[in-house]
Amino acid sequence: MTVNPTIQRELPADLVRDRLPRHVAVIMDGNGRWAKRQGLPRIMGHRRGVDTLKDMLRCCKDWGISALTAYAFSTENWGRPLEEVDFLMTLFERVLRQELREMMAEEVQIHFVGNLDALPKSLREEIQRSMAETRNNTGIRFTVATNYGGRQEIIQACREIATKVQQGHLQPEQIDEALFERHLYTAGHADPDLLIRTSGEMRISNFLLWQVAYAELYVTNTLWPDFDRNEFHRALSAYQQRDRRFGKVKV
Ligand code: FPP
Repeated sequence: MTVNPTIQRELPADLVRDRLPRHVAVIMDGNGRWAKRQGLPRIMGHRRGVDTLKDMLRCCKDWGISALTAYAFSTENWGRPLEEVDFLMTLFERVLRQELREMMAEEVQIHFVGNLDALPKSLREEIQRSMAETRNNTGIRFTVATNYGGRQEIIQACREIATKVQQGHLQPEQIDEALFERHLYTAGHADPDLLIRTSGEMRISNFLLWQVAYAELYVTNTLWPDFDRNEFHRALSAYQQRDRRFGKVKV
């Protein structure tokens, strides 16, 4: 990871540290369009998208945000051209291998959520290795949603719970939100406070359906490869102006 000396390392003065989101989630959209606008193949957009993601992670750490979750590959993304899917799988694996040392130095604790069993074996191994090696890091929690689908996550949680009921280990009356959350891929993770989507689409796209119930949404027209610290600053400023009531009224 190269460090640009001109980047804003300090929390911008107008942001209130106590009111920062603890957990930011991002739908990194627009890589393909970015590449097309530059006259490049789509895959070059993904490659540039990795640089953006690395800077976002570093920025969260610099500014005191304790968790970042990124939507890297959805269960629907298998429907893309085979060469793009292959490129992405190889890219994930290569980035993990190349960045492990840096993640250790930066105290990043990496997690993957999604149906990981369906990923190529060599990628699965790299995922297991990076999760195991960074397990005790405390700098920032970085979660990558890969082969992830929110509906599928909810269905697999229902199956696990139903099996426990069927086997007599659980009574239906014991099923509540806390128990349900413990059966999601994100068990033990706090919900996102802020969900950012780039490239202007006003959709959730099957991302963290349960977990974003009370997240603040921020959509920018900027394409993911162009999303930078200034853009992130704008998103955080907008977040700090929101009145989060969680369905209640302010007294
Ligand atoms: C969406 O843009 C982007 C993706 C499906 C892939 C995002 C993945 C990365 C940035 C790599 C992350 C790497 C690691 C190791 C976590 P799009 O292709 O849908 O863009 P478009 O809507 O303009 O076509």
